Amino acid sequence: MIKLIARRTLLAAALALPAVGALAAPLTMGFSQVGAESEWRTANSASIKAAAKEAGITLKFADAQQKQENQVKAIRSYIAQKVDVIAFSPVVESGWDTVLKEAQKAGIPVILTDRAVKVSDPSLYVTFIGSDFVEEGRKAARWLMERAAKTPNAALNIVELQGTVGSAPAIDRKKGFEEVIKSNPKLQIIRSQSGEFTRAKGKEVMESFLKQRDKKIDVLYAHNDDMAIGAIQAIEEAGLKPGQDIVIISIDGVRGAFEAMKAGKLNVTVECNPLLGPQLMQLAKDVVAKRPVEKRITVNEGVFPAEVAAKELPNRKY
Ligand code: AHR
Repeated sequence: MIKLIARRTLLAAALALPAVGALAAPLTMGFSQVGAESEWRTANSASIKAAAKEAGITLKFADAQQKQENQVKAIRSYIAQKVDVIAFSPVVESGWDTVLKEAQKAGIPVILTDRAVKVSDPSLYVTFIGSDFVEEGRKAARWLMERAAKTPNAALNIVELQGTVGSAPAIDRKKGFEEVIKSNPKLQIIRSQSGEFTRAKGKEVMESFLKQRDKKIDVLYAHNDDMAIGAIQAIEEAGLKPGQDIVIISIDGVRGAFEAMKAGKLNVTVECNPLLGPQLMQLAKDVVAKRPVEKRITVNEGVFPAEVAAKELPNRKY
């Protein structure tokens, strides 16, 4: 048998045919990405592209520019192209039933990465790999609770910069944060608006928060680092000191946030790991080979206060 395989391999080499063990065509993945709205997203896309190359998976990649209709179009085109597996990071939670049923009918497995969907039938996707966003919101709030316990202020007014309306991270990070702070009446969210996960919008919304002079702002809770970085600019332009006059909490743990913490302008970032590529490619191989996989795969993540920023910055991978 071994001899036969060896002979076949030699013959294959001579005829430039694939050798035994390499007979299967490379797996093709259609991936629909949310967009390029943040430093986090850029790192996530780079991780997926590099991991696909490394795993020998042919990747068809489409950037949806934060629009659900573009994601639906991309998924339909992957179905038409008969890819082996579809993976996507859904911009919003709802509205996926129809297109996912089409994928199921075509026999193409779907993997969710980063963000969840709300669907009538959970069998419409095979597995979901990504962070626990509710827990990230709780971690941000627990840090604030500890800080609040050490401040003499009778009340701490919080403004919140939410992520994209209807997206899983915006919904869950709000939920987790509110769940924890509700036990401390000293902590009140006085304003909350979407900054769409971008620096430009984060700055714009923070400017409008600062213009409303009815209440003093003590704390900013931003659902991602990019919005916090945009808001820092707005705070400085208003003649205030970010990180001192206004305590700033954000989520992601991108390099830009560590630099802001090192400069004393951001107080803490809760990690959300975008480097999902290698795990996603392994999952794709398992799913296509019909090996059993977990329905929900989460990622272990930390909390980084400003005090550790200088030490941690050189170790950051995104
Ligand atoms: O879904 C993950 C979130 O999306 C990240 O926190 C944010 O930066 C990104 O745009």
